[in-house]
Amino acid sequence: MNPIQLFDPASSTFTYILFDEASTESPRPALIIDPVDEQLERDLGVLRHYGLKLIWAIETHAHADHITSAGLLAEHTGAQTAAPDACGITTASRQLKDGDVLHFGGQSVKALHTPGHTGGSMSLVWQNGQANEAPTHVFTGDTLLIGGCGRTDFQSGSSEMLYNSITKVLFSLPDSTTVWPGHDYKGQTQSTIGAEKVGNARVTGRSLEEFVALMGALDLPKPKRLEEAVPANQRSGLAQPIRHDAGDANTPLNSGNTTKEEDTVQPAEGYAGDVSPQLAFDWWQSGEAVLVDIRTDAERAWVGFVPGAVDLAWKQWPGMVANPAYDDGILAAVPKGKKVVLLCRSGLRSIPAAKRAAELGLEAYNIMEGFEGDPNSNAHRNRLAGWRYRGLPWRQN
Ligand SMILES: [Fe+2]
Repeated sequence: MNPIQLFDPASSTFTYILFDEASTESPRPALIIDPVDEQLERDLGVLRHYGLKLIWAIETHAHADHITSAGLLAEHTGAQTAAPDACGITTASRQLKDGDVLHFGGQSVKALHTPGHTGGSMSLVWQNGQANEAPTHVFTGDTLLIGGCGRTDFQSGSSEMLYNSITKVLFSLPDSTTVWPGHDYKGQTQSTIGAEKVGNARVTGRSLEEFVALMGALDLPKPKRLEEAVPANQRSGLAQPIRHDAGDANTPLNSGNTTKEEDTVQPAEGYAGDVSPQLAFDWWQSGEAVLVDIRTDAERAWVGFVPGAVDLAWKQWPGMVANPAYDDGILAAVPKGKKVVLLCRSGLRSIPAAKRAAELGLEAYNIMEGFEGDPNSNAHRNRLAGWRYRGLPWRQN
């Protein structure tokens, strides 16, 4: 079978979802390559549609033209993140080296170090279950594009290395191997190693020296999102830099913003209910409830924390894996007869955490909007909703 190929028009980026078609597991194990922040909902929808469980979210390199959703996908699906070890993506739970294999059900992909576009760039080879046969698919990131290749003029790029990666590493795959690139700007979707050997406008018929001269003369404009995207991608797309214009600890942006209607308990399935940040705060202050902040230690450190809350992560980096100490921690934190209100970043992750607390016998509520709400159209949080936005107490450090 072919991978599911998805396209982000704003950055011309291809994202790929691969799954184990023959798996008897339900949902079936899957992985995603180079997911894009703005396409999170689409990708979650595809996973739901095909009945897939995401095992891995993989980067081919630290991108300069879009922000990854790998960290968010890990939060939503429980997938682990993987990235080339030389890309500085320190939040990825698996740091890939050349030849490493990632399994999803009975299927696997193998990492090939193909530096040049960036020093750490990798391609991924998918056998598609035919272990004794030639590889059938290669995901080339920005190393080899259809009829072209990625640029080499920033992010530890090297034209010499790229020439070697394309002509020695990728071109040693069988001619029939399907090439799935990281981008295309002309509406093309796939190629083959054989077709690229004979028809790649950058490489075919050029010596190393000629290729280096050609790449050196390209004089491309800087990617629009370089400064923003690379640091964000080195954190798997999570934790945008702290914005000091968004109000500081003692001067809340928007005090008393909740209305009476919002301060009622919304019914929920599997736990006691959803509550507004203000109502959770009131319950907590009156001693009716314990406030538990289930964000990761890193999020609290980057984004800010609520003084006096119980800090107990539901999932933790690296890889956003379930915190094995959650059950014991929450039972120890909540005295008999008290409610527990659970706070996460946007009010989503605290839902499974509340369900689990309810299974453990607690009267558990999810705090809607979380600490800083969903991102707005400029990807800034704390502008639409959330604990901070509502003027409730918090501190940066
Ligand atoms: Fe790139």
